[in-house]
Amino acid sequence: MTGAHVIDLGIGEPQPRLLPLDSFRQAAAHRLALPGNDYLQYAPEQGWGSLRGEIARFLTGWTPHPVEPDELLITAGASHGLDLVLSRCTRPGDTIVVEDPTYFFALEVFRDRGLRVLGVPIDGDGLDVDALDELLSTERPRLLYTVPVCNNPTGVTLSPGRRARLAGLAARHDLLIVADEVYHLLGDAGPAVPSLRAAAPDRVLSLGSFSKIFAPGLRLGWIHASRERLAHLLQDGELRSAGGASPVAGAVMESALALGLQDRFLKEIRELYAARRRHMVRLLAATLPPEVTFEPPDGGYYVWLRLPGHVDTAALLPAAAQAGVAYRPGSLCSWRGGHACCMRLCFVHYDEPDLTEGCERLAAFLRAHLRAL
Ligand SMILES: Cc1ncc(COP(=O)(O)O)c(C=O)c1O
Repeated sequence: MTGAHVIDLGIGEPQPRLLPLDSFRQAAAHRLALPGNDYLQYAPEQGWGSLRGEIARFLTGWTPHPVEPDELLITAGASHGLDLVLSRCTRPGDTIVVEDPTYFFALEVFRDRGLRVLGVPIDGDGLDVDALDELLSTERPRLLYTVPVCNNPTGVTLSPGRRARLAGLAARHDLLIVADEVYHLLGDAGPAVPSLRAAAPDRVLSLGSFSKIFAPGLRLGWIHASRERLAHLLQDGELRSAGGASPVAGAVMESALALGLQDRFLKEIRELYAARRRHMVRLLAATLPPEVTFEPPDGGYYVWLRLPGHVDTAALLPAAAQAGVAYRPGSLCSWRGGHACCMRLCFVHYDEPDLTEGCERLAAFLRAHLRAL
């Protein structure tokens, strides 16, 4: 069993049919019927104020702290936001710290910027702040990159106690924190847990995006940070030349926000993804061999499985594909190629019957292989 029949539990995106085409059509029609065509012009570097106003209103409605339009900068998604921050706040050769494991494509962005990457572990309460404290006794990193809510790949959320300690550490060591919060609104907590910005408003730049809550094809997101931090980012050469990011997508999204279409869609996918998550967690708990462990995630997209330490999940992948199932190997998510005995699964991509089939195949495969190893 190979190729088309493989259920790839590693895919970290929704199926196209889940993307909100009707809402997009409605929002685009609304926008095109309005007078004015500002969105066909270069946008101000920070993005149009009316769009920032709608995003601020939306975020204020979904999170415990008010968001100000002046503290938002429009980006072409969180990846662009990350690269923009690195471009303005780091130089090649600078040291940065990441969670180990972390979002694997971020590691590629760091590589492209010539950065030296160090890792700190992450456990069921999120980033290990004691380990970071220890690292900061010998290193002076320029910034910390963290995925604090519904982490990719582990699914965990930084605990309130650790948030406070992290803020203290950052102040003591003059550390900038880039909080990649693209899954922030996809957690169980409602209203959502506060953005990490609430713990250290002057030090945290929060990356947000419509990719996970509306559609990745928009290439639209934001950076939420203090006015002083944003003023520094706004000197970026690319922004000065190109103007604010994605103005056409932004204009449509402004209508989607104003019409309540984003709110409605977010409510729908929160329920759908939570149901799929519970389904996958139930299945994994019932079918995996006892030596495979995981923490039930707080939301987001992913479950992180730990196999016995001698197993290399990357090496097992071809055999798994033969058995009709795939995943993302743990080593992909580690700055040092660690976590080789882990794997990342996504519960968002497939509907429940395919999730069932995929999890059963994976469990049967692991039972057979762990016995043979
Ligand atoms: C943690 C994290 N950050 C950023 C991204 C990409 O976001 P965007 O599409 O807004 O660039 C992803 C997508 O998987 C992600 O998991």
